Amino acid sequence: MKKAIGVFDSGVGGLTVARELIRQLPFEDIVYFGDIARVPYGIKSKETVIRFSIENILFLLKQEVKLICVACNTVSSVALPVIKNHFKVPIVGVISPGVREAVYATQNKRIGVIGTRGTINSRTYENEIRQLDRQVKVISVACPLFVPFVEEGWLSGKVVLEVARTYLKPLKNAGVDTVILGCTHYPLLKPIIKKVLGKDVNLIDSAKQVAIEVKEILAQDGLLNKSGRSKHKFYVSDNPQWFSSLARRFLGRPVRGVSKVNHV
Ligand code: DGL
Repeated sequence: MKKAIGVFDSGVGGLTVARELIRQLPFEDIVYFGDIARVPYGIKSKETVIRFSIENILFLLKQEVKLICVACNTVSSVALPVIKNHFKVPIVGVISPGVREAVYATQNKRIGVIGTRGTINSRTYENEIRQLDRQVKVISVACPLFVPFVEEGWLSGKVVLEVARTYLKPLKNAGVDTVILGCTHYPLLKPIIKKVLGKDVNLIDSAKQVAIEVKEILAQDGLLNKSGRSKHKFYVSDNPQWFSSLARRFLGRPVRGVSKVNHV
């Protein structure tokens, strides 16, 4: 039987990662779970994020997935270091792929990291960057208003620009040449972030690197599908209509047949 890749996120934002997986792994089936009932994770305690993450992983394991990709930055930085090794299935988060790319890209060894409060407070990005290169100076800023802006479709305009200027000021002042977009939603704000920080700043969106890593693991384990048709299934814990209405913005195409599940 052909096994799928499982992907989960606190909600709809993880579709930015699913989009890249679909692009780079066109023959793989994908089962996506968005925890709409409990989003946002970015303001929750570590214990809660860990509990939700375990429940989501157990749901995906029931779908007999061969690998789990954690699209959510908050889960990847807060929960994954604690729970990753408790499961037999490979689990890929979004932190290390983004960190490797950023450390490779920076010339002046000043990297900015933006994400939810949970992600920034965990200091996981900072620690992983320092493990790769001790000389890098890391400036981290939480940008909590960016998620609702993206979900409301406010990707440009005066208000968003002003908020972005305020949040990104410490990065600009520190002269970073590379910024990790450490949240599922932020790739959609790339134009406004570029406008504030300048066109020469590298914006690192880890989705591409994550898909490369998933492909490598599947190839190593002899589990990569190289031909055939693929199916993509979408599950949510609440409000499939809301998910579908936002999905296009994140996935780049409409999503049909979203199912609601009660897995907890
Ligand atoms: N998916 C989350 C992340 O990437 C953002 C939304 C949330 O706070 O749940 O950190």
